[in-house]
Amino acid sequence: MDITGSEIIRDKIDTQDLNEVNIRPGKLDEFIGQGKIIQNLKVFIGAAKFRDESLDHVLFHGPPGLGKTTLAQIIAKEINTNIKITSGPMLSKTRDLAAVLTNLEENDVLFIDEIHRMTPSVEEVLYPAMEDFYIDLIIGDGPAARTVKINLPKFTLVGATTRLGLLTNPLRDRFGITFKLDFYNTNELENVIKRAAIIFNIKISQEAAEKVSKCSRGTPRIAVKLLKRMRDYANYNKNDLIDTDLVETSLHQLHIDSIGLDNLDYKYIQFIVDNYNGGPVGIDTIAAGLSEEKDTVEDTIEPYLLQIGFINRTPRGRVITNLCAKHIGANIANRDLELVLS
Ligand SMILES: Nc1ncnc2c1ncn2[C@@H]1O[C@H](COP(=O)(O)OP(=O)(O)OP(=O)(O)O)[C@@H](O)[C@H]1O
Ligand SMILES: [Mg+2]
Repeated sequence: MDITGSEIIRDKIDTQDLNEVNIRPGKLDEFIGQGKIIQNLKVFIGAAKFRDESLDHVLFHGPPGLGKTTLAQIIAKEINTNIKITSGPMLSKTRDLAAVLTNLEENDVLFIDEIHRMTPSVEEVLYPAMEDFYIDLIIGDGPAARTVKINLPKFTLVGATTRLGLLTNPLRDRFGITFKLDFYNTNELENVIKRAAIIFNIKISQEAAEKVSKCSRGTPRIAVKLLKRMRDYANYNKNDLIDTDLVETSLHQLHIDSIGLDNLDYKYIQFIVDNYNGGPVGIDTIAAGLSEEKDTVEDTIEPYLLQIGFINRTPRGRVITNLCAKHIGANIANRDLELVLS
């Protein structure tokens, strides 16, 4: 049998942003925000440990950068077990998944990122593995082919997806625990920023931290990324303090407005306003007009615009709201239009 599970897993680790390793909180108690999820996880993990059983399979869904991967790693640490990391697109053949599954040890956490991108045949291998901890492997070809049942150790599958809607029902049903991650409020983001500032060894004033939190689009990953760039601006000027002046000039340089909208958001909004008089317009048309993947539009641009009430999804397509038109109208004059439209 051609087992390449460890390579599949190693590939994924190599492509991860290693800078993120230090900044990720390592324990449930260190995790900022998502209070309900943390509370529940404590209970479910504590109970599983008490019974000396593996934790039930967990599914995280929500927009990018809210902490799905971080939570998967925390779960493994809290259970005190190993985590094996892979993703839907990486498991293109059934034997890829079989290799990963047969390499697991008792109570291990298997993290499958972008789990909605598995093929149906790979998914079918996962069903009995999740439910009854075995897989049916087909050995050989043609008439000589036979099925071998392989028992697996009890493991916990942690799945993550930005698109719950794309998960098939049988797969969704096999997760005992499902959590939806929400956007963070500015208070929580402020704490993410202050914590990251300590790790990055940079000072930030209270007002500056508040300002950055307001333009982080409810997303810790963006808060951390902004802080890194502001640290660059400060350090370039031989400074180790981020104050409001520095925040304002950096945001201007980065083409990010006071509520966190960037060029891509402006392009999206302007496309609908200029060509479709504010909508409704279908998602395929928008993606083509912006020369972006439909997935990027739906995963990265739209969730935050929906959250702040700047767009509505109607059966006939996307519509710009008055709130959005007002904000854009007031801010467009300050922007480098050529850059926005390029
Ligand atoms: N609650 C939190 N407290 C502090 N930092 C956080 C928190 N949640 C996420 N982060 C930081 O934000 C970044 C993104 O988190 P993570 O990679 O877990 O997001 P994700 O939901 O898996 O995103 P994606 O869907 O894009 O894979 C990481 O650098 C992580 O350290
Ligand atoms: Mg992730």
